[in-house]
Amino acid sequence: MKLLVIGSGGREHALAWALLKSPRVSHVYVAPGNGGTATMDKVTNVAISDPKALVTFAQETGIEMTVVGPEAPLAAGVVDLFRAAKLKIFGPTQRAAQLESSKDYAKAFMQRHRIPTAAYQTFTDPAQAHAYIEAQGAPIVVKADGLAAGKGVVVATTVEQAHQAIDSMLGDGSLGAAGARVVIEACLVGEEASFIVMADGKHTLPLASSQDHKRLMDGDQGPNTGGMGAYSPAPVVSDALHERIMREVIEPTMAGMQSEGIPFTGFLYAGVMIGEGDDATRPIGVLEFNCRMGDPETQPILMRLQTPLVDVVASAIDGQLDQQTLQWDPRTALCVVVASAGYPANPRIGDEITGLTAADNNSEAPHDKASRDHVVTFHAGTSLDAQGRLTSAGGRVLGVTALADSVTQARSLAYETVAKIHLKGAQYRTDIAWRALPS
Ligand code: AMP
Ligand code: GLY
Repeated sequence: MKLLVIGSGGREHALAWALLKSPRVSHVYVAPGNGGTATMDKVTNVAISDPKALVTFAQETGIEMTVVGPEAPLAAGVVDLFRAAKLKIFGPTQRAAQLESSKDYAKAFMQRHRIPTAAYQTFTDPAQAHAYIEAQGAPIVVKADGLAAGKGVVVATTVEQAHQAIDSMLGDGSLGAAGARVVIEACLVGEEASFIVMADGKHTLPLASSQDHKRLMDGDQGPNTGGMGAYSPAPVVSDALHERIMREVIEPTMAGMQSEGIPFTGFLYAGVMIGEGDDATRPIGVLEFNCRMGDPETQPILMRLQTPLVDVVASAIDGQLDQQTLQWDPRTALCVVVASAGYPANPRIGDEITGLTAADNNSEAPHDKASRDHVVTFHAGTSLDAQGRLTSAGGRVLGVTALADSVTQARSLAYETVAKIHLKGAQYRTDIAWRALPS
């Protein structure tokens, strides 16, 4: 069976790697892929990003199923186009993807369906937005309505910062159309977890819990990024909290989408803020919905998945997710992101990357219960040049992901591998999973 994965990041490298674990899968095409997928057995990168051209490619190549990684093609309607051409694809339709592509849509939806989230208002008029900030005070959160590649959220600790964010988004148009409308919402406090499920429009199957690190620097300092590391499981998501998130967030979201005639298919990621207290009563609130898997959360989650991913995706496309149960490796998987100099504001690209061994980019890594601890280095912003040199091609360059018996061991193993990698000006956090370490 030939499959197509759309996207070019660490998430897509991990998707291709996990899909290939099944002998049913003969080949995976990745569009456009990266330097890691370029060197995998049974994988071919395809330099196509236009959704219509992807449909033609899938038809001509005999692709049996397509999995979409990032939000942009989903928001552009790639699922609708594939379905219209009778091609199997896993992801939400353009309308369903609004849960991510419009914060205002997501907030209004949550309010209609009584899904816990921070109080908010939406503005297009700067004067009204400024007045609302004055009335609410700080801390307060300003969010561009549209997709802004991780740059659309300002968690303002002072009213001045919030006013500046309004001036920049609504006044100067710094984010273009994405920032022409803003959501201003109350600041929630607590610990964030990434809660990701697969949905087929009728049934929902939760994936293992995970947590990522959004800030650039150790101690959760510095600017927000796409994610500097992640681990699974996230100890904060106890069984009791898992049930609450399913009952209070995921089930009403799926039921609400269905009742509004927009059944959700694909991966749904709820970023959940978990406040203080005991698990039965502590506050939980949705910070955001993403209509895709997280990056880098996918890398540790898929390292732990023992059920063949291709089987689960096939069931989901056929509306039969209720026939599937997922088996997880009980160990901890932990991913350390190696980013380029200047990330996130101005990532420098084109630097050579050395120190990776073939085993680090391993499509054949042991993946059963009895297997040893191991590391896989998933590529993100990398490319292979004509001479076969691996160079940096984006902000987040590599995701070194280790699987081991404990958080401590997984962390040591990941950092031992990171230490062997050479990339000029590389940035990485040295405290990934600090919240999960034994105290
Ligand atoms: P988003 O893209 O909406 O997930 O926002 C990016 C990050 O900003 C989140 O992962 C949180 O760390 C932070 N954030 C977003 N909304 C809030 C909020 N209402 N309160 C506190 N932090 C928030
Ligand atoms: N790691 C956060 C995200 O994928 O949105």
